Amino acid sequence: MYLSPNGAHALVYEKSQNWHYTMDQIAHRILEISRTSQRDIWRVTEPMRREEFAMDRTEAMQLLLHAPYVHLASVGEDGRPLLRALHGIVVDDWLCFHSAPAGEKCSLVNREAVCSWEEIVAEIPSYWTDPVMACPATTLYRSVQVSGTLRELEGAQLRGRALQRLMETYQPEGGHEPIEGECPRYRKAVAALMVAGLRLDTLVGKSKLAQNRSPATIRGLIENLWKRGRTPDAKAIALLLAANPLVERPAFLCGPGKTKLEPWVDGSRMAEANALLRDQYWNRGRFSDEALSIAHQASGAWVVATNEAGELVGTARGFSDQQKFGYVADVAVREDSRGAGIGAALMTLLLAHPCMRDCARVMLATTNADSLYERLGFVPHDSVRVPGRTMMVRVKEDYTL
Ligand SMILES: CC(C)(COP(=O)(O)OP(=O)(O)OC[C@H]1O[C@@H](n2cnc3c(N)ncnc32)[C@H](O)[C@@H]1OP(=O)(O)O)[C@@H](O)C(=O)NCCC(=O)NCCS
Repeated sequence: MYLSPNGAHALVYEKSQNWHYTMDQIAHRILEISRTSQRDIWRVTEPMRREEFAMDRTEAMQLLLHAPYVHLASVGEDGRPLLRALHGIVVDDWLCFHSAPAGEKCSLVNREAVCSWEEIVAEIPSYWTDPVMACPATTLYRSVQVSGTLRELEGAQLRGRALQRLMETYQPEGGHEPIEGECPRYRKAVAALMVAGLRLDTLVGKSKLAQNRSPATIRGLIENLWKRGRTPDAKAIALLLAANPLVERPAFLCGPGKTKLEPWVDGSRMAEANALLRDQYWNRGRFSDEALSIAHQASGAWVVATNEAGELVGTARGFSDQQKFGYVADVAVREDSRGAGIGAALMTLLLAHPCMRDCARVMLATTNADSLYERLGFVPHDSVRVPGRTMMVRVKEDYTL
């Protein structure tokens, strides 16, 4: 039989108000309270009402691992609800956090708690699907939640590992002696902190990405997101397509042959992009894989092409102020896939990307691909000289240089 700390607390409170309880009545109340507590636990772990929104565990874990912080909610000893934002760290089977050894968070140990993180993917206005009614307005989002009894982590090693992981995440540059719970320098500090966590076996993820809508409606959402072009909309399109694989891709995301064009990708594609880019003449010996990764993550637009096997066969990126000036860089197609139109298709997508499409001037430098860019409206920029390179510029129709 499970009796939650809240249940036990409720009983103690009741008992203090009703001294005339017999042992039988107490036993009966324990049963009643434990059933209620059990129901509460089932409520958070039972299957999701809309199963189509349930995320698989790997995806849920990825979202949790990348959460910049989590919210912790519980009910304090005095019955008051408590909500705090924390740096949550995944170590072994735990989502853990640390705090001072006294205070509100400490009082939650051995009590029921829930931690969550959510990411807003896109706000969808009602008029995209209904010209009159407000009802269809909705939000696309992804969220993760871990629930259960908050436990203090035991053992200096596990506690030390949790604190070290915290440092690696939020101070990745190092600059301190690694934390080991048993090491004399840290032993006291590690023992003095409160390090607590929730077990990850109750991890639940939800991605509300229009899986309950018809393919035609999802196509409409994708086209409207592209047209609207707010900063996160390219990512929303990529997530919608991944969550709804049966939806036919819109023409602007179809490359030559069976290649697919992606308007947004996450850092997990960087190893493949590095393989295409590190030996190009403009990067070789100048920029490390890490530098290229930083450059791509910092670029407002990174588009790629993938083949039928899902391999990355082309990549291009751009960055801009979205109005006056944009710059194109790191355009490359895998050697065995060249000459089929992938480079031109990628560039067409990049120039139509919300980050680049409204720029009065878009520039790039090349040594040997002038003809590719000329076909897309670029002309040599005579007033900018870079030795060994042709600077090219593409000017918006109604703008004069
Ligand atoms: C340049 C590059 C991206 C073109 O990709 P691609 O998929 O082969 O290009 P496409 O098939 O869309 O071809 C586009 C056109 O550009 C032309 N082109 C111009 N320069 C080219 C070049 N250096 N390599 C290949 N094609 C080139 C092609 O001949 C083709 O014209 P066509 O259709 O009239 O035959 C690819 O060749 C590549 O990755 N090269 C090495 C990296 C590089 O030089 N990047 C450009 C840096 S500015």
